[in-house]
Amino acid sequence: MKHLIAPSVLAADFTQLKEEMAMINLSKADWLHVDIMDGRFVPNISFGMDIVKAIHGICEKPLDVHLMIVEPERYIEQFREAGAEVITVHYEACPHLHRTIQQIKATGAKAGVAINPHTPVSVLADVLEDLDLVCIMSVNPGYGGQKFIYRTVDKVRKLNAMIQERNLSVLIEIDGGVGLQNAEVLLQAGARVLVAGSSVFKSEHPLDVISRMKSIGHNTFTV
Ligand code: DX5
Ligand code: ZN
Repeated sequence: MKHLIAPSVLAADFTQLKEEMAMINLSKADWLHVDIMDGRFVPNISFGMDIVKAIHGICEKPLDVHLMIVEPERYIEQFREAGAEVITVHYEACPHLHRTIQQIKATGAKAGVAINPHTPVSVLADVLEDLDLVCIMSVNPGYGGQKFIYRTVDKVRKLNAMIQERNLSVLIEIDGGVGLQNAEVLLQAGARVLVAGSSVFKSEHPLDVISRMKSIGHNTFTV
């Protein structure tokens, strides 16, 4: 399967959201990554479902909603109604992770689980079969524009081995500090969804960055 590019709207210019989304619609991006932060699970606050709904109205790409919030089970249906196609919750925020995954699936959305840089991939061993996506955080969640934590590449390799061993089709997403400088090594390690915030939206040529990320390793992967 060809990898997917998911630019993160957190790094967009919110005074120009319509223009930014017009660029995304024109681009080779596969999804739009949407970061929800609550000031509790992470130190920062981003925005809520009304903004997601507004983005959904002007963005033609599927919305990949990353919930960096405590008690995400309270809001899953609302984010689905706002237009989320993929809903990802944090392992660290879900004491009843299996139940929360089923709750996401019951809405018809694809279910993802994200893990922080300090969380080993092995904690997902007993839910992997239930998942559509695992998001490996390559920065500590809360802010865009942070430095990529290189050790997370090895987590991508380990998770990829677990997925291959069981013959599953779970997508590995990598989120934080991703750009043209590290995309290739991440794809080789097994990542299939590259989230890219600053490297896309802060670039002078975002369309070009997206299309270059999309064409890396063209036709070399079979999953
Ligand atoms: C971090 C967010 C990321 C962020 C990525 O908490 O989950 O999705 O927007 O931004 P960059 O690519 O700038 O690190
Ligand atoms: Zn994110």
